[in-house]
Amino acid sequence: MIAKIEVNKRYFREAYRSGKHGWEAKPSPYVLRCLDRLRGELPGAALLDVGCGEGRHAIAAARRGFRVTGADFEPLALRRARAAARAAGAAVRLVKADALALPFRAKSFDIVLDFGCLHHQRKADWPAYRRSVLGALRPGGFFILSAFSPRFRFFKGTGRSWHIAYGAYRRCFTKKDLCALFADDLRFLALREGTDGLWHALLRYK
Ligand SMILES: C[S@@+](CC[C@H](N)C(=O)[O-])C[C@H]1O[C@@H](n2cnc3c(N)ncnc32)[C@H](O)[C@@H]1O
Repeated sequence: MIAKIEVNKRYFREAYRSGKHGWEAKPSPYVLRCLDRLRGELPGAALLDVGCGEGRHAIAAARRGFRVTGADFEPLALRRARAAARAAGAAVRLVKADALALPFRAKSFDIVLDFGCLHHQRKADWPAYRRSVLGALRPGGFFILSAFSPRFRFFKGTGRSWHIAYGAYRRCFTKKDLCALFADDLRFLALREGTDGLWHALLRYK
């Protein structure tokens, strides 16, 4: 049997190869607003983009003066991110890594950003995700998160919190899920359910 994470990886490999992955090429307006806010508070801060994909947010962050590392387990996405960063003249360090076992020095980032990576992790892996991602964030640091809510089209009206298509696993979160996962360690500064069916959250490590 192929491990579930391998099936997920295959999906992403094919999604990047075909270009038919369905997520935007432009950075999310919510992420840009957070970056603009944090740039004033923490100029030049070290930022980690977990599941950075082709680098749209990592590049936007580098352009705003952050010292950016992007991590993803998909090599093709990282190659694309590298080429895009070069073309944009943006300094981004790109690292092949699993979000569940990030290889970075403990507490070495001021900001962690996750747009669309957490919601591909199985519920059984949420504790590993939290340990890994929060392990990289320093106390007082910020966590910018966008993840599926039950309003996203894959889940709406199904009564299910998970969705599998073409081998990709997706999971939506209720507010209660997000609080159970993060509220012990992080304070929610903002949490909004967008019309796009995503939660957009800004949290701060206590
Ligand atoms: C929906 S895409 C979003 C990409 C990027 N954050 C963006 O906003 O364009 C999710 C990304 O997370 C990556 N990913 C999913 N699970 C991962 C894991 N366990 N470790 C590292 N990367 C992962 C995928 O390869 C993919 O690039």
